[in-house]
Amino acid sequence: MSTRYQEVTANLQSQPRVWLVTGCAGFIGSNLLEALLVMGQKVVGLDNFSTGHQYNLDEVQKTVTPQQWANFRFVEGDIRELDTCRQALKGVDHVLHQAALGSVPRSLKDPITTNSVNIDGFLNLLVAARDAEVQSFVYAASSSTYGDHEALPKVEDRIGRPLSPYAVTKYVNELYADVFARAYGFGSIGLRYFNVFGKRQDPNGAYAAVIPKWIAAMIRGEDVVVNGDGETSRDFCFIDNVVQANILASLAQPEGVNQVYNVAYNARTSLNELFDYLAKTLGTTGIVYDKQPVYAEFRPGDVRHSQADISKAKQLLGYEPMHNIVQGLEVSMPWYTQFLR
Ligand SMILES: NC(=O)c1ccc[n+]([C@@H]2O[C@H](COP(=O)([O-])OP(=O)(O)OC[C@H]3O[C@@H](n4cnc5c(N)ncnc54)[C@H](O)[C@@H]3O)[C@@H](O)[C@H]2O)c1
Repeated sequence: MSTRYQEVTANLQSQPRVWLVTGCAGFIGSNLLEALLVMGQKVVGLDNFSTGHQYNLDEVQKTVTPQQWANFRFVEGDIRELDTCRQALKGVDHVLHQAALGSVPRSLKDPITTNSVNIDGFLNLLVAARDAEVQSFVYAASSSTYGDHEALPKVEDRIGRPLSPYAVTKYVNELYADVFARAYGFGSIGLRYFNVFGKRQDPNGAYAAVIPKWIAAMIRGEDVVVNGDGETSRDFCFIDNVVQANILASLAQPEGVNQVYNVAYNARTSLNELFDYLAKTLGTTGIVYDKQPVYAEFRPGDVRHSQADISKAKQLLGYEPMHNIVQGLEVSMPWYTQFLR
């Protein structure tokens, strides 16, 4: 574990704070909620269950102690309502803003809803958090902001043109955050997540991410469909690394604030390699998948290759990702096999 992370978590445990996690019923939000409750923090959660689920909250409740669960207050509501954001922010020290509509294909199909949640909702929360004078505001940005910039690895200040409405919304979040720093002196940190995976990532629905979608197909003995030739690559990032980055960013030193950071592992895995890793890791649980992948068309809006330079987060936040893709899959697989059977 990184020294800075040990230091920060020890301080939090001795002096608990109040956190707002938006999107707390979703994949990343529910993992943040669980980690914070385990650390003895008080957490307000805000979600409208549009893509998140009550069963994610139920699972967190089963994982933590009753005393830890008593530190959780849930607000069911929509970030597109400014008053709801203000209500949720009462007494909050730190904001971890995760609520958004993810998925490039969803945004291509319905750019208007993606825009209203990801931009109007973001702006509401930013205004409400500024007015509530919170100590920190950390938000989920995205690697999609690199768009058509081809250089690898991706470095924070070199971005291209967005390839989807989703990417536009995530970039606009960064622009607003920057303007709020300059116009109102309201500091924030954007974390550009790269293909996060782990327990509670939804395997179902048209917009499921590749890892849970393929694991589900393998467990059910169905075909695994690869978009393109399988040589498309990603920097897959295990959820525990993302939790670490959020907590470090919330307690960043002043020089680390008003920045955006890549949050990834700094490795590149092709979809063909991912297929092999998944089949192999699943095999260790006794489930044999011996079909070959089925290759389909490339998906519009997808970038071809992605890999992050994470030196900025290491340097300014003390970020030290602890799990590479294989280690992360080993930790997550028991959850998937239990959840999907
Ligand atoms: N998962 C990834 O690989 C990844 C990569 C880059 C960025 N991100 C970003 O991270 C954040 C979390 O993503 P996730 O993978 O956990 O997605 P998710 O869909 O599992 O979680 C999002 C949560 O936000 C909630 N939500 C959506 N609209 C809302 C609204 N209007 N009001 C209140 N709550 C609302 C949903 O119900 C859901 O619980 C998002 O901002 C996403 O864009 C994720």
